Amino acid sequence: MSERLEDIAAAMVAKGKGLLAADESTATIGKRFETIGLESTETSRRDYREMLLRTDDAMKSCISGVILYEETLFQKAADGTSLVDVIRAAGAVPGIKVDTGAKPMAKFPGETITEGLDGLAARLKTYYDAGARFAKWRGVISISDVLPTRGAVRANAQALARYAALCQEAGIVPIVEPEVLMDGTPGDHTIERSYEVTENVLRIVFEELAEARISLEGMILKPSMVIDGKKNRKASVNEVADRTIEVLKRTVPSAVPGIAFLSGGQSTEEATAHLSAIVAGHTLPWGLTFSYGRALQAEALTAWGGKPENIAAGQRAFLHRARMCSLAATGGWKKDLEKAA
Ligand code: 13P
Repeated sequence: MSERLEDIAAAMVAKGKGLLAADESTATIGKRFETIGLESTETSRRDYREMLLRTDDAMKSCISGVILYEETLFQKAADGTSLVDVIRAAGAVPGIKVDTGAKPMAKFPGETITEGLDGLAARLKTYYDAGARFAKWRGVISISDVLPTRGAVRANAQALARYAALCQEAGIVPIVEPEVLMDGTPGDHTIERSYEVTENVLRIVFEELAEARISLEGMILKPSMVIDGKKNRKASVNEVADRTIEVLKRTVPSAVPGIAFLSGGQSTEEATAHLSAIVAGHTLPWGLTFSYGRALQAEALTAWGGKPENIAAGQRAFLHRARMCSLAATGGWKKDLEKAA
């Protein structure tokens, strides 16, 4: 059985495939369901996620792995099959979000520290036994005139590195996710400021990963793109792509096998266009792809609307977006393909 961290990581960023982030916490999925007027229950969460995971064409041709919330990792489909087996049957790798959320950081007003290290070694063993072969931990960095502070960046980078070490010891590939928010408060920063903060954050994250003896070959980086704040969107698609590549080249060692971007509040089409422009025409040392939550799911959620009779429509919407993102991951997405569909 080939279960080396390097092989799992390579499968996660296989050419033209990417990750489906379906790991919304119970609170977050509740907010998403509110937008379609649906009550969030264990069953409605299962039905929604089962709809996505059973979109066979999308799963088999576009999705390399799925990030699950703990509840889903142990959940069964309506017919009694475990959802982990549904994912595996499609040839994708099951993964698990293991942080317990970004909490206000004591003495650092406006900043957060991500929690979840206590007892993590034991939890990882349970998740491995349940089939998870990769994990995710998200550190959150907010931009304002005075933020982020050095203290908060360092603390979040250290937590990411401790988490990554525990994962690698457990035979699980860590997705290291330092998200620089595009939609924080006030959310009106320029792309230059996004660049400056992202460069600093990535430098410190890789310093801490080195101190923690992380094998770079057995991890995946999940960064945000270099992009202007959500209330100040001015940069062109090519500007976002160029600045993102520039910052990654300056900070991410080539031993890292893959980089899978988060969508972070970009619209579905923006996130697709940006990824395609990042990948097109560049020879880069890492596999590059998507690890989208909102950008992969938004259209499917709306088309489904919580109604059993709309499952086929929800799956069509998910398949379309998965195909567009898959094309983007090869640099081959074009706007007219959106219309053609
Ligand atoms: P978004 O693509 O919606 O940002 O979600 C990705 C993710 O996993 C955030 O942690």
